[in-house]
Amino acid sequence: MSALWTSDEISKALSPVAAVAPFEAEGVTFDSRAVGKGDIFFALAGETSDGHSFVADALARGAAAAVVSREVEGARGTLIRVHDTMKALVDLGRAGRQRSKARIASITGSVGKTSTKDALRAMLSVQAPTSASVASYNNHVGVPISLARLPREARYGIFEIGMNHPGEIEPLARQVEAHVGVVTNVGPAHIGHMGSEEAIADEKGCVFAGMADGAVAVLNRDNRHYPRLVDKARHFGVSRIVGFGRSDAAEARLVSCNLQNSGSDVIALIHGRRIEYRLGAAGEHWVLNSVAALAALDVLGADVAKAAMALAALKALPGRGARRRLKFGAGTIELLDESYNGNPVSVGAMLAVLARTEPEGGGRRMLALGDMRELGEQADALHAGLADAVAASGAAQVFLCGPHMEALWQKLAPSQRGAHRPDSAALAAEFAAALRAGDVVAVKGSLGSKMKIVVDAVVAASGGEVGR
Ligand SMILES: Nc1ncnc2c1ncn2[C@@H]1O[C@H](COP(=O)(O)OP(=O)(O)OP(=O)(O)O)[C@@H](O)[C@H]1O
Ligand SMILES: [Mg+2]
Repeated sequence: MSALWTSDEISKALSPVAAVAPFEAEGVTFDSRAVGKGDIFFALAGETSDGHSFVADALARGAAAAVVSREVEGARGTLIRVHDTMKALVDLGRAGRQRSKARIASITGSVGKTSTKDALRAMLSVQAPTSASVASYNNHVGVPISLARLPREARYGIFEIGMNHPGEIEPLARQVEAHVGVVTNVGPAHIGHMGSEEAIADEKGCVFAGMADGAVAVLNRDNRHYPRLVDKARHFGVSRIVGFGRSDAAEARLVSCNLQNSGSDVIALIHGRRIEYRLGAAGEHWVLNSVAALAALDVLGADVAKAAMALAALKALPGRGARRRLKFGAGTIELLDESYNGNPVSVGAMLAVLARTEPEGGGRRMLALGDMRELGEQADALHAGLADAVAASGAAQVFLCGPHMEALWQKLAPSQRGAHRPDSAALAAEFAAALRAGDVVAVKGSLGSKMKIVVDAVVAASGGEVGR
């Protein structure tokens, strides 16, 4: 395999202020802690620190070169001096995209971006060399760095695009120039910064800006903002629309799914072709993500039936629905770790999964929820609005933390009330102490609510993972 980047290509893409000594690079990063041998390190200005402070360290750790905008003391190695390191990263991302012959997908949506991206990656990588954004690298740094990492040999590239504020998606979409753009879902996530769901839909629809000729939009046919997104796609010149979902009108249609704790058996019709497959990650939301991924994969021209076989091995990630069976007292508990992300849509999806998870031998459903952040003026109403889904989840006791959860606390039936505390640290030990063998235990909240503290307390109170 040839190098990811040569110094000649870098010089062309970045127009550095001085000539660059020859080198070859195998990776691109901005995180000095993650620098690997042969990486190009970009010294970016962060909110709390300036990457220039870590240049010497990055080079000492084997970086092939560092892209900088000023002198750096004590740096031994190849420096590439530019005027603006962030702009240089975008330029390299663009160069990565421009040279690529890969078929490209972009994925945005209020929830399910990473899950859909991972499903698509799992399915495409068994067919041809595939590159995808790592983790949730979906912002103004994550997108260009993912493009700059696209190997020249890749046949498929998959890029997650996210936003917290209006105006963020369009420039990123224009960098990615995808052949297929997926909007997984539109719901009230980050609504505090966005004002309304309509504004969120319009922002998500900007993923169709600057797409390649003949590009296709993959849209959630069941979402009430579908027509709005169709308009948005057309506005950006994308005329071919593929709907996915339960609706009869969906071109990628979920026909049926048998949901179990360990995953689901799914039947879907992808452009009239019947596909039956096993999906290794549990929950109806995962089923819909997999159908969206199949719709995109079909558009990209890959083999749908072969692809679907790869979904059996897919598992939810830690913090995003991963299940753990832990020794507890004289028996075990099942822990549903959803501590990574929480907004009204994803909490609803998790509560539906909890409702379907039957506790064993006299156990109960036990729920810990932390505040959903970034909901602005609608925060209290949206927290209180979880009440019906919480009741339907069958949770025996509900433990809450964070100021907005007060609104939900007021709506809980007295018999369901466990405790409401100011933050996860104040809740953790109390929640763990309330658990018994046999319980199914679900923990969820926005990342900022730090519900991992609660997960850790449950794990600490247990006798460890079963089977270890
Ligand atoms: N299609 C879906 N519908 C509803 N909820 C979903 C869906 N897909 C995933 N979720 C929920 O959202 C959580 C986050 O999923 P995922 O990481 O795929 O989303 P994301 O859009 O990438 O989030 P982020 O904005 O944090 O990057 C999951 O743990 C799950 O609770
Ligand atoms: Mg993500």
